Amino acid sequence: MSKTWIVSNRLPWTCARDAAGLPHLVRSPGGLVAAMLPVHQAGEASWVGHGGFPADTPGLADLLAGQRLIDVAIAPDIYAAFYNDAANGCLWPIFHYFPALARFDQAGWEAYRSVNQVFAAALLERIGPGDLVWIHDYQLMLLPQLLREALPDLRIGYFHHIPFPASEVFKLLPWREEIAEGLLGADLVGFHTLEYARHFASVAGRLMGLEVRGEDIHHGDRTVRTGAFPLGIDIHGIAEAVRSDRHRETLAELELTFSGRRLVLGVDRLDYTKGIRERLEAFALFLRTHPQARGDTVLLLLCVPSRIEVGPYSDLRQEIEQLVSRINGEYGTTANQPVHYLFQSRGLPELTALYRRADVCLVTPLRDGLNLVCKEYCAVREDLDGMLIISEFAGASEELGEALVVNPFATGEVAAAIHQALHMDPRERRARMSILRRRVLEADNRAWAGQFIAALDAVAAVNRQHASRRLENPAEAGELLARLDGAAQILVAIDGNAFAGRSAQRQELERLMAAVRGRFGDRCAILLISGAEADDAWLGKELWLAGEYGATLQPPGGPLAEQGAALGDLGSHHAEILRILGELERKVPRSRTIAGRATLTWTMGRTTSDMAKVMLNETRHAISLILERSAWFCAGIHRGLAVRCGSCGPARAIERVLAALPGGADATLLTIGDRFTDEAVFNLHRERNCSVAIATPATTADYLVADAHGLAGILIQPGVPS
Ligand code: UDP
Ligand code: G6P
Repeated sequence: MSKTWIVSNRLPWTCARDAAGLPHLVRSPGGLVAAMLPVHQAGEASWVGHGGFPADTPGLADLLAGQRLIDVAIAPDIYAAFYNDAANGCLWPIFHYFPALARFDQAGWEAYRSVNQVFAAALLERIGPGDLVWIHDYQLMLLPQLLREALPDLRIGYFHHIPFPASEVFKLLPWREEIAEGLLGADLVGFHTLEYARHFASVAGRLMGLEVRGEDIHHGDRTVRTGAFPLGIDIHGIAEAVRSDRHRETLAELELTFSGRRLVLGVDRLDYTKGIRERLEAFALFLRTHPQARGDTVLLLLCVPSRIEVGPYSDLRQEIEQLVSRINGEYGTTANQPVHYLFQSRGLPELTALYRRADVCLVTPLRDGLNLVCKEYCAVREDLDGMLIISEFAGASEELGEALVVNPFATGEVAAAIHQALHMDPRERRARMSILRRRVLEADNRAWAGQFIAALDAVAAVNRQHASRRLENPAEAGELLARLDGAAQILVAIDGNAFAGRSAQRQELERLMAAVRGRFGDRCAILLISGAEADDAWLGKELWLAGEYGATLQPPGGPLAEQGAALGDLGSHHAEILRILGELERKVPRSRTIAGRATLTWTMGRTTSDMAKVMLNETRHAISLILERSAWFCAGIHRGLAVRCGSCGPARAIERVLAALPGGADATLLTIGDRFTDEAVFNLHRERNCSVAIATPATTADYLVADAHGLAGILIQPGVPS
């Protein structure tokens, strides 16, 4: 029976102390726990996290056993360095676009690594290969890869609850490749918005040099899928809270306290990303410019204590408290204190009462992965009253366009929005709230979890399908060898570019060819296909050489000949295309144009510039137009383009070799390649073609293998493994 595991840095319960110092259990703060706890309680998964409970926590053993919770023990000093220095002192500010607040502390990073390893070890003691592991958030970004290495077929999902920044910002992290590799261990990497998913894909493409196709990233022989799954709120929990006595009592208290006054509400963890300081400045500006509001408008700020041991958080608390007192001093009246500040956390019954009483909910983070408070506010407003003001930098703003959407840095804009919200025509307010509320209620946290797991299962099935074709499986290797061992004549076609850019390219190829010869002897011919002009170094090795992607062909010991046409046949187009490519070369540093005998290629080198890719596409289009009515065409190649005659190409080269070989008409093919440019070769004479893709997942090839060494190893096996 496969099991599901939820994994996050924190367990959903933490230990708090009351005024007398007595410990008791309370829900952990933050949106992750608020959304996942009901999902966990309604299902059967176990939740693995760090509790950090003091030994005197009452009811702890019962809580852990009764609620399927597994506490990962971590030494306090390691945990402090991981949590304060790495996760919240570095990753949090970088991912929220606050690089100036980030501290790149190596010791903290090592603690981060070791905490991820401790989590991996704790999981590996318990999980089985068919299980599903759902990892949450930036504190555990190395965990997917650590688990993948140990259990290659495990279903691993990762959900990122905070923003994923543009690759330019992500690149600041000294451990960027390690983090990206860590995340790429998952089958599915989920985000709140498409923009974050796009940023991650761009890290995979630009920083890691991986192939990205739509939502899929090709990583070795696996597909890593990305997707946007905006988190929903706990509708059932909210409905229950609203029905509670505590809710009714709080609402009555609020009615009394704020009778005759308009209430603007802000609810956040005390975090610099939440824009609390800027919100206060905007409220002060609103009071300055609307003096009549000073006597009857209150901003109630509920700030939940958070990460108090991390420098910027304690500084922020002081700053906020000074600002609150400054505003109250300046704009208070004998009848009204404009800012009501609470540095504490409240339960859902009280929180929902605040939502219900607030005329305006002011959600103005400078950056927020999603933000649940704004959704909860809408959900509670079944009276369809109340107005939401939301920052355009909160992920949730993408779904909540009927709110007043503001730039939180623009103080004047926020102040004006407060005034607009408080004075909006009630019919307009109802119309807006009605749409917002419907949308929020339609997609709750359970639906969200269901969608994520379904998407994870889908991509894991694709990866399992890939895995079932892996030559690392003895059955697949046996099948391949049986097909080849029984063949009278074999043509082995190898795409030499599959080895390009690797220092051991030559040795790898030679080892593979030696393995082929050793096994099949005189029954086989080898064709080496390459993007460059035929390489003299291979002459005299009894090989067929196809250069320039098959535009030239040279038999063993024979002369080289163009297969379709020579470049000279391009006529006047030749100079024009060269001019265009020359221009491109000047604009893209380290790019190169190569004029072969029968092909013109342009490659953009190692540049990661998006602009270069745009220029490549535009140039490809321009050249295709020039060649429209000719026998030539412009093909896309890895990081570049190639102009060649339509009557040549790798598949054509194979046909020509087959025609020249005795028994070629019935020969079995062994085709070996790694890129989408090889798909035509993999699909040639399918019934007698044993096609093998090296380190590439999305392919029509019959078999997959992690590297050429693996394939050579199989070919030198004496017998057929069963
Ligand atoms: N919350 C709470 N008590 C409080 C304040 C907030 O339970 O006193 C909850 C709130 O209901 C919401 C979560 O904390 O579900 C905050 O999530 P959000 O995504 O808005 O922000 P995060 O803290 O995760 O950055
Ligand atoms: C955000 C993060 C969560 C985190 C929560 C509370 O919601 O995405 O991963 O748990 O804040 O922060 P804390 O540091 O108290 O766990």
